[in-house]
Amino acid sequence: MTDGGRNLVYLVTGGCGFLGEHMIRTLLEMEPRLKELRVFDLHLGPWLEALNPGSVQVTPIQGDVTRAEDVVAAVAGTDVVIHMAGLVDVWGQNDPEVIHRVNVQGTQNVIEACVQTGTRFLVYTSSMEALGPNKKRQPFYRGNEDTPYEVIHTEPYPRSKALAERLVLEANGRKAMLLGCIHWQLESWAPDPPQ
Ligand SMILES: NC(=O)c1ccc[n+]([C@@H]2O[C@H](COP(=O)([O-])OP(=O)(O)OC[C@H]3O[C@@H](n4cnc5c(N)ncnc54)[C@H](O)[C@@H]3O)[C@@H](O)[C@H]2O)c1
Repeated sequence: MTDGGRNLVYLVTGGCGFLGEHMIRTLLEMEPRLKELRVFDLHLGPWLEALNPGSVQVTPIQGDVTRAEDVVAAVAGTDVVIHMAGLVDVWGQNDPEVIHRVNVQGTQNVIEACVQTGTRFLVYTSSMEALGPNKKRQPFYRGNEDTPYEVIHTEPYPRSKALAERLVLEANGRKAMLLGCIHWQLESWAPDPPQ
């Protein structure tokens, strides 16, 4: 990454979601090297119009992570991709195939687009759901991605997050890529259970 001046192009997939909007506002506030901020989402939020980005170019991109061509077009020319697009389904309400397509195939599309277009930095938003449940109720104390932990996934959403996380970790080092995985832990947000 080149230091100094505004010369970095960031892409946030799922940039109009709950976490995505916070990421967009945080980058605008705290990344002094930001030149262009691409906001990629299936549904663009009206709040984008009201942003005050100063000299940063905000580029809204309506697209679908399951469509490889949408992803390649959005990723091309970026320095950093923050992949947050996903189908969040802690209550098992969606078709498992759709969850897999969006969360796993979508992540694969993002990885391939980075490799293909030469984007070196990819941050993936994983989930604590990828870590559990552990059927033996063993504690997970001060662990990291390398901590052995016997996880048995029975639900589609946690399984999809675990599979996608593995894809990201396995892709680390491919061509010129440096990837990261984020586990959102204790203070993560979840919607109210359906009534
Ligand atoms: N909110 C949490 O506490 C939490 C915890 C752990 C992990 N995560 C992960 O963080 C990410 C964002 O979560 P969130 O809470 O902001 O969810 P969210 O549902 O608010 O946002 C997800 C965004 O992804 C977009 N999206 C869905 N399918 C898409 C597709 N096919 N193509 C492009 N965009 C698509 C949606 O339109 C939405 O704007 C997800 O990957 C989720 O698994 C969230």
